[in-house]
Amino acid sequence: MPFDVVFAHALRGEACTVRTVEGAPVPLPVEDWTRGADVVDRLFLRHCAGATIDVGCGPGRLTEELALAGHVVLGVDVVHEAVTQTRHRGGPALRRDVFDRVPGEGRWDTVLLADGNVGIGGDPAALLRRMRDLLGRGGRIVVEVEPPGRPTGSADVQLTCECASTTYFAWGRVGVDGLSALADRTNLTVRAVDRYDGRWCAVLGVRR
Ligand SMILES: C[S@@+](CC[C@H](N)C(=O)[O-])C[C@H]1O[C@@H](n2cnc3c(N)ncnc32)[C@H](O)[C@@H]1O
Repeated sequence: MPFDVVFAHALRGEACTVRTVEGAPVPLPVEDWTRGADVVDRLFLRHCAGATIDVGCGPGRLTEELALAGHVVLGVDVVHEAVTQTRHRGGPALRRDVFDRVPGEGRWDTVLLADGNVGIGGDPAALLRRMRDLLGRGGRIVVEVEPPGRPTGSADVQLTCECASTTYFAWGRVGVDGLSALADRTNLTVRAVDRYDGRWCAVLGVRR
């Protein structure tokens, strides 16, 4: 079953798991995305400056929060249901693969990659290079990374909801320990790293 069909079921409340080829299935934390923004989310979002594109916005809690805070914001997601839910919250959103053309390319002040979205596409370096293309001069990437001790890399994963599974697809991950090397490879600089209640947030700038 295609990813967008299975993920849409999960966003509508069906129990969903994620697994790697070798690993046991673990619950996909969909409730962390469908809820409203919390205190830690707001601390993350303080790093967003100016016009912000929320890449892989899911059901839109961060897009909504940025809009409420007065930012020019656009949520972008490949899944129709995610875009619909974001719009229902009052957040502007567009159904789009972020590797295809998006509005405002080269003009965004902030690209937001929260909740493990640095894994989109299965190659964090390729994703960060693509994010760099979206930024205007002086722009930043606000990215959630994993705690110390976690690896940086990629794995094939599969989502399973009550009625269907996806085929395996590549998803990346970035641990805070691997961030500097990744920034070097992608012509970015690490401007800040902050920890908020067990979640890790980095701000990357473009090396010109
Ligand atoms: C971990 S969830 C994001 C949750 C989201 N940050 C939130 O606040 O609810 C990952 C999201 O990335 C989206 N996604 C995956 N590949 C994508 C792509 N190539 N372009 C845009 N969005 C993508 C998925 O549809 C999914 O909504």
